[in-house]
Amino acid sequence: MDPQTLHFYTRQASDYARRADRDEVTDLQAVLRQWLPSRCRVLELGGGSGRDAAWLQTQGYQVTYSDGCEAMVKQAVAQHGGLQGRALTAEVPLPSSHPLLGRRFDAVVAIALILHLDDGALAQTLAQLVALLVPAGRLILTSCVGAGRCAGVQTAARRDEDGRLMCLRQPDDVSHLACRYGLQQCSVSWQHDGRGRDRLWYTLVFER
Ligand SMILES: C[S@@+](CC[C@H](N)C(=O)[O-])C[C@H]1O[C@@H](n2cnc3c(N)ncnc32)[C@H](O)[C@@H]1O
Repeated sequence: MDPQTLHFYTRQASDYARRADRDEVTDLQAVLRQWLPSRCRVLELGGGSGRDAAWLQTQGYQVTYSDGCEAMVKQAVAQHGGLQGRALTAEVPLPSSHPLLGRRFDAVVAIALILHLDDGALAQTLAQLVALLVPAGRLILTSCVGAGRCAGVQTAARRDEDGRLMCLRQPDDVSHLACRYGLQQCSVSWQHDGRGRDRLWYTLVFER
């Protein structure tokens, strides 16, 4: 994990996770409901506060929650007791010895994770995700591009004011890369930023 990005989430785990649980995520939940086969096995990567993993549990999914930041995993379990025993630390790309690599899932979800991965890490992670999915398994990725005063930097890798690595890619770029690893795009949809920042979010759905 990018060291400065990890440092931010470690230092801010508690505040960040409390704030994230108050985010407006109705649009995201609609996409998840539409594309996740009912009650299937879902792996969440970069799950942050556990907000989406906990919600998926309420919808009957068998969820494995993970995040690359240990402090965030602890905070997520503290905020969502139902994740106890279903939560683990997993930094992507996964090291070859990581236990997740021996498991298979019907779906993998990564909300606002790949924006923290540089091109090399994203390519390696996509290759691993294909191996984690059963045939016809679904991958749901959410990321963002700059909007408003940030529109000009939307394809540049840069750091935000907190030092986090921000790789703002167009959905087509992510899609082309995913297709190279054998994934087929099923859908792309756009969402406004729930906190009013100069960002436009998109959700890509792929099938293996
Ligand atoms: C922008 S937050 C999104 C959290 C949550 N998915 C949400 O939508 O609120 C990004 C999360 O990804 C985690 N993360 C960043 N780089 C990672 C990596 N290389 N592997 C796994 N998790 C990572 C961070 O610790 C953080 O919890």
